[in-house]
Amino acid sequence: MNIFVVGGAGFIGSEIAKQCKDRGFSVSVMDLKPSKIDGVDSIIKDTTNPDVPNLDLSNYDVLIMLAAVTNQVEFQKNAIKSFSTNVIGLLNILEAARKSKIKKVAFASSSAVYGNTSEIENEDMPIYPDKANMYSTSKIMGEHLFNNYVKNGFFEGVAMRYFNTYGVGENDKGDYKSIVSIFLEEIKKKNTATVYGDGEQKRDMIHVKDTARISVELALNHSGTFNVGTGNATSWNTILDILESNGLRFERKYIKNPINDYQKFTQADTEKLSGQGLKANITIEDGVKELIDYYNITQQ
Ligand SMILES: NC(=O)c1ccc[n+]([C@@H]2O[C@H](COP(=O)([O-])OP(=O)(O)OC[C@H]3O[C@@H](n4cnc5c(N)ncnc54)[C@H](O)[C@@H]3O)[C@@H](O)[C@H]2O)c1
Repeated sequence: MNIFVVGGAGFIGSEIAKQCKDRGFSVSVMDLKPSKIDGVDSIIKDTTNPDVPNLDLSNYDVLIMLAAVTNQVEFQKNAIKSFSTNVIGLLNILEAARKSKIKKVAFASSSAVYGNTSEIENEDMPIYPDKANMYSTSKIMGEHLFNNYVKNGFFEGVAMRYFNTYGVGENDKGDYKSIVSIFLEEIKKKNTATVYGDGEQKRDMIHVKDTARISVELALNHSGTFNVGTGNATSWNTILDILESNGLRFERKYIKNPINDYQKFTQADTEKLSGQGLKANITIEDGVKELIDYYNITQQ
């Protein structure tokens, strides 16, 4: 099995490339930076390059598309470049897949397509929310584009709506890493944890090894649109409680939330995923503990 992972040198993509390699598949990664995974073939290329639609990918059985600008802040800083990456970059890759007659394409969408909602997010909910931000809008556009290629029969497809993914490897994401790493870095530096609001904001936090394993299964064996989450929502206060129960000591600093239109809640409805025999296995307690060990925080 030959797998082509676009954006495969990033946080989730690297874990996908590693798991594919471990399963004995031949893996090529296309990204702006080289893959750090041993035995993976690296192609350094920008998806927005006009020659991308003509890439010969006919040797590959499955393409997994993850390359994207992954956060709203970058969209606000540079909307043209960000939309161009998430929409034109995607279009270029879909064209390359179509021309190369790739059988199966998996697209990394996001829970962001549901917009700022307080409901448990189900795949059948409409994805034209009034309150979509620019990043969400780019993923909604991406899904429409992707589904159109699938509907036209150019390839089989699976859209994967990732919820908040965390775990070792995300520190490369700078300011855009998960709240667990943000708290741990602050505790390591200053013995404080700054919390926006009352700390009762909740997210469906899924460990990167689960996100990657489920993605590979979906890419190989399933079609349609799937939430990729745990089905549980964890509050910032619960994460801080877990850090404390692992022996870390720090001051919680609750401050007024500086972000407008802040997402208070995400929780995946995982019935469709579990109907295919797929579910996240790593508990938030175990996942956070692994990150604590990784950050190797020593306190007097
Ligand atoms: N991490 C999460 O919690 C989360 C949640 C929902 C959706 N997603 C989606 O999952 C995918 C992967 O996210 P991630 O967290 O691994 O982010 P990441 O930033 O670590 O990975 C994205 C990768 O895409 C590459 N890339 C960006 N623009 C490119 C371009 N023009 N050409 C080639 N490569 C390019 C980057 O270099 C990076 O390696 C993204 O599509 C993201 O929107 C992630």
